[in-house]
Amino acid sequence: MYSPSLQRQLYERSKKLLSPQATLFEGDQSRLVEDLQQVLRFHEWKYYVQNDPVISDFEYDQLYKQLEALEAAHPDLITPDSPTQRVGKDLTENLAQVAHLTPMLSLDNSYDAEDLNDFDEQVKKLCKLDKEGDVEYCVEPKYDGGTIVLVYENDRLVRAATRGNGAVGDDITANIRTLRSVPLQAEFSKYGIHKVELRGEALIRKDIFEKINKARQEANDQIFANPRNAATGALRMKDPKEAAERGLEAFLYQMGYAVDNQDNNIIERFHSHDESIHLLESLGFKTPLANAGTRQHLPATKTCGSIREVIEFCVNWQEYRDEYPYELDGMVVKVNSIELQERCGYTSHHPRWAIAFKFKARQATTRLRDVEFQVGKTGAVTPVAKLEPVPLAGVTVSNVSLHNEEFIRAKDLRIGDQVLVERAGDVIPYIVKSLPELRDGSEQVVHYPKTVRFVIPCW
Ligand code: IVH
Repeated sequence: MYSPSLQRQLYERSKKLLSPQATLFEGDQSRLVEDLQQVLRFHEWKYYVQNDPVISDFEYDQLYKQLEALEAAHPDLITPDSPTQRVGKDLTENLAQVAHLTPMLSLDNSYDAEDLNDFDEQVKKLCKLDKEGDVEYCVEPKYDGGTIVLVYENDRLVRAATRGNGAVGDDITANIRTLRSVPLQAEFSKYGIHKVELRGEALIRKDIFEKINKARQEANDQIFANPRNAATGALRMKDPKEAAERGLEAFLYQMGYAVDNQDNNIIERFHSHDESIHLLESLGFKTPLANAGTRQHLPATKTCGSIREVIEFCVNWQEYRDEYPYELDGMVVKVNSIELQERCGYTSHHPRWAIAFKFKARQATTRLRDVEFQVGKTGAVTPVAKLEPVPLAGVTVSNVSLHNEEFIRAKDLRIGDQVLVERAGDVIPYIVKSLPELRDGSEQVVHYPKTVRFVIPCW
C-alpha cells in the first residue's frame, strides 16, 4: 500500500510540515488538511501495524496538533475518517445488537499429532482427494483476546461488532474506531470489493497488560485475571476514550464475506487464504503476517505443503509461545485453497476446513494452605497465598499474590481449598478459582486484618 518511494515522499512531507515555517506559507487550507491527514495515517500504519515508526512520538503529536488546530478553525474540512476523529465524544448507553453478514462459527479442536492426522484424512475424504497426496494448509496463531467483526463499505469502516452468539453481536464501532491499527478507510474498491466483512481479534500486548494491572493494583482497583479479560472488557466500554487507553490492537485473520457493487459474492476470486491475508496486509491491516515472531525467528504464520509440516510447525510454536508478545492459546490450521474450503463445507458449529491446535494448558490444582499479609514500604497490605508447592510449566509455584481483599472475596477463597492455578505466558501465576465442590467443611474463611501492627525492630 505504501511503496518505498511513497514512504520516502510521506516522510519528507512530514519533515516539511514539522519545520517551523511550514503552515505560514501554505495557502490552500483544505490541501494542507488533506496532507496532514495523509501523513498521519501513514505514521499510524508505521507505528501501530508495522511496529516500525519513522518519526518520534513527539513529532507525531506535533503533526496531530497542527491538524486539530486547522480543523478547529475550519470545521467544514473535518471528515469522519480524519485521524482526529477516532475518539468520539458520545458515550454508548446500551450496546445495540447487529447481525453478522455471515455466521461467525467456532473452531473444532485438536491436541496432538494424531488429531491433526485425522483432520487431514477427513479433509481429503471430503474433497475426494488421493489419500496419499498432500493438501496445502495455512497455520497461524490462535489469538486469545476478544473476537471482532468489521464491515467496510465503499472503502470505509462502517461497523464493528463482537462475536456475540455467532449470528448477532454487540455494536462496538465507537470503541474499534479508537484503535489506530484499524484503518478507518481502506481501498477495497481497487480489488472490486464494494462491501466486505473481516474477522479478527482485539488483543492487549502482554507487557502492556502487566502495566495496566500494576496501575490498577496501586489504585486499589480490581485487577484483570488475564489479557483476554482486559481486552474483552475494553471492547464493550461505554466511553471510547477509556477504551482507547487500554492499548488494544487488532489482528485481522479472515475475510468472511465480500461482494461487488452488484451484490455478487466474489469471495472465491481470492483463490487462497494466504492470498486474502496478503491482500488485507497490503491494504494496511495488521494480520498474522505482522512481524512479531519469536527470538528464534520462527515466523507467526506458515503455508505448509503437507500435514507433516503443519505438525512440526505447531509443535515448535508450543515451545516458543511465551516469546510471542501476545497471548496465544494455540495455532489455527486452515485449508489454503478457497475452492477446497468450499468442498469441505461446514457443520452448524465449525468449518470443516479448519481446526485449532490447542497448546497444553498451564494450569494445575493444589491446596491453599494459608494466607499471609505482607506490608509494603508504603503501608499497603498485600495478601499472599501460601500454596502446597506444585510444578507448573517449568517452575514450582508456592506463593501467589492475591492482590487485595476484593480479589479474595470475589473468588470466595478459603484456607484449605483446592484451587486452580494458571500461568499464562510470561504473566506471573495467579489463582483462577477455588473448587468449592471439593470442600469437606474444614475450610476456613480468610480474615482480612483490620489494622496492621508494625513491628519496629530494636537493636
Ligand atoms: S478462524 C470460521 N483464525 O478462535 C472460523 N479464529 O473458535 C473463523 N481465533 O473466537 C475462525 N485466532 O476469534 C480463526 N487465527 C485465527 C484465530 C481465530 C483466534 C478465535 C476466533 C473465535 C475462536 C474460534
